[in-house]
Amino acid sequence: MRFSTFFSKQARKPTGLFGRLVMSIVFNKGNANLNRFVNELLSVQENDHILEIGFGTGKLIYDMANQIDNGLIEGIDFSSTMVSMAQNRNKNHIALGKVKILKGNFDEIPFKKDSFNKACSVNTLYFWPEPENTAQKIADILKPGGKFLLAFEDIAQLEKKSLSNEVFRLYSKGEVKNLLIRSGFSGGVSIESRMIGTSVLHCVVAKK
Ligand SMILES: C[S@@+](CC[C@H](N)C(=O)[O-])C[C@H]1O[C@@H](n2cnc3c(N)ncnc32)[C@H](O)[C@@H]1O
Repeated sequence: MRFSTFFSKQARKPTGLFGRLVMSIVFNKGNANLNRFVNELLSVQENDHILEIGFGTGKLIYDMANQIDNGLIEGIDFSSTMVSMAQNRNKNHIALGKVKILKGNFDEIPFKKDSFNKACSVNTLYFWPEPENTAQKIADILKPGGKFLLAFEDIAQLEKKSLSNEVFRLYSKGEVKNLLIRSGFSGGVSIESRMIGTSVLHCVVAKK
């Protein structure tokens, strides 16, 4: 297997020692600015009930949990390696009942309709096999008026990286905006973009 395919597969679902030792650093360092951007745009309130889909090492969950009081932050990820790292990072918040970590494929695990007031997902869209179904499911489990933040890197900079196109599906920001408009976010969809150093980052903010 070519290294670019192996690396791309690890980015989609980290496994084993490589996932624990290498991908955790790639996510913690490489995705830090995008996660900070999402945290700002979420403007977490003390009683928010938030779902993060594909939390990786659980840093954004940790930062969100620091901002709530009576609320709850839930996260779902299908990598056992990432689930154990996120559980470890968030063990105090879990013990206090502020964080719940779930292991599973978001597309397959049932969630109650209208249960979260916010949801977010950072650098996972590229791996969604059926993007409209996933986006519709997110709209479905948000409360009316709820907000979904979907963050990703600019297509031009991702095209320069050696990523396998069998694993990564890349989107322009316009395509992501249209995807969410088509998927039940009738309260309005907007794009926030930020340039940090040479990186261009996008976050689509969609209201149900
Ligand atoms: C590129 S990493 C991004 C991790 C983190 N959000 C960040 O910004 O550092 C993608 C993560 O999403 C998870 N993931 C991808 N597809 C998923 C799915 N359908 N259900 C649950 N987790 C998924 C992977 O296991 C991985 O931890």
